[in-house]
Amino acid sequence: MATARYEIRVLGAAARFACAHDERVLIAMERAGLATVPVGCRGGGCGICKVEVLEGDYRCGPMSRVHVSAAEEAAGAALACKVFPKSDLVLRPLGKCFDQTRYQEEGASNHGC
Ligand code: FES
Repeated sequence: MATARYEIRVLGAAARFACAHDERVLIAMERAGLATVPVGCRGGGCGICKVEVLEGDYRCGPMSRVHVSAAEEAAGAALACKVFPKSDLVLRPLGKCFDQTRYQEEGASNHGC
């Protein structure tokens, strides 16, 4: 069976990237050479990669409730390092290191913090 691949778009960023159904969105973004979502631990421990999924279907690996509450998760918040796409996705970064002003001025280059 062929691997399903989906297109991931981050709000405010022109570049899009592909992510397989069994690949984590944050890792696919880095593989594509992009930094449209801030990157931290890559393992669900820091919350830096927190996003809101605005469009699309996905599943999540285990996420710390310190960074994403059950209510937030139900409303579409997730850690990009724990998100596996089930369709094309549109994301909006929410993480604590995300600087919306800088992000817009520099064209979506907001790596780390
Ligand atoms: S990069 Fe640390 S929680 Fe995702």
